[in-house]
Amino acid sequence: MFSRRIQNVDTSALRRVLSLISGGEVISFAGGVPSPELFPMEELRELVAEASENPLAFQYSSTLGLKELRDEIARYMERWGVRTSADEIMVTHGSQQGIDAVARTFVNPGDVVIVEAPTYFVALNTFQIYEPDFQQVPLDGEGIDIERLEDLLRRLKAEGKTVKLLYTVPTFQNPAGVTMSEGRRNALAELAEAYDFLIVEDNPYGELRYRGKAVKAVRAFAPDRTVYLGSFSKVFVPGFRIAWLNAPEELMERLEVAKQTADVCTNSFGQHVTLLFMKKGLLERQIERLREAYGPKMEAMLEALEEFMPENVEWTEPEGGMFVWLRTAKNTDELLEEAVKRGVAYVPGSAFYALDPRRDEMRLNFTFEQIDRIREGVRLLAELLT
Ligand SMILES: Cc1ncc(COP(=O)(O)O)c(C=O)c1O
Repeated sequence: MFSRRIQNVDTSALRRVLSLISGGEVISFAGGVPSPELFPMEELRELVAEASENPLAFQYSSTLGLKELRDEIARYMERWGVRTSADEIMVTHGSQQGIDAVARTFVNPGDVVIVEAPTYFVALNTFQIYEPDFQQVPLDGEGIDIERLEDLLRRLKAEGKTVKLLYTVPTFQNPAGVTMSEGRRNALAELAEAYDFLIVEDNPYGELRYRGKAVKAVRAFAPDRTVYLGSFSKVFVPGFRIAWLNAPEELMERLEVAKQTADVCTNSFGQHVTLLFMKKGLLERQIERLREAYGPKMEAMLEALEEFMPENVEWTEPEGGMFVWLRTAKNTDELLEEAVKRGVAYVPGSAFYALDPRRDEMRLNFTFEQIDRIREGVRLLAELLT
């Protein structure tokens, strides 16, 4: 009855995560959603009332999205070192729809799609629908291991395979928390040129920086070959599902077809409220508020890891975002049930691999729980891992 394309998609990891984050007393490091107590409720009430005055907020918008919002977003991209214009912006329903639009537009069955190992598993599910030939490249503390990527590209070329695109979350990666250095962003851009593939840069966490220096987007290094995905989910609210795609102008017409045939346009009301939020300078204020709230939580988790974890456990040192990635000496799939019984949840690392999953890793979210529970949760985990 079901199509092969939908039947092929394994969503068990997502279901498992969703069931874990709904547990009451358990200290949850499993989530990845923003804290609702940090939503700017007062501003939202005012913006919603103001947007409601305008009948156009309830009309269809164009498929690319509200022109004024696209102008604001184009200006906003400058902070990531990207010079662009509204013609290169399409407003999407979440960056999730951006991923789908890219896959629909570019991936034929059997095309090579390179992903990071580990990577964001919902993106894997989305690409899977388009039946690609997944290949993966490992990460280290500075993002994609460029030498390994070059080896992979050489091997694929020798096998007569062409690479269609590479999907990366280069800044505060989900799940690993690491950020690709500018040197590597430049090297990635050069490889994309040499081997003629597209880069899909997914950057929903980029503004959540609590340490270190800002980096330029990958798109700043490879403007003609990068589709950049931005999102308001983590810096405003996810419920409006407002996000955007920023791509070279010559790709926009076909990307627009991909969106038009999916949902005609993005929800207009959310676009109008988001436009007001940006125009009034409230986005800046909210980003500041989030950094102040999340930064100390990240520091608390890193300190607790240092204090409680046994010698044979390693973890990444993020400069922002929402996640720390642990490599342990145990099978984290098998350990999960016992962890939840003892009162702490995480996401097993195996969920984040397109191929050959490692079973000794886990993703920890540090933005959801309060600091005292973060310490206690890390202590409980350390007991299990010792
Ligand atoms: C790497 C990554 N990409 C995309 C998304 C989807 O975000 P959005 O709410 O913009 O669809 C998420 C959400 O957690 C994510 O972690």
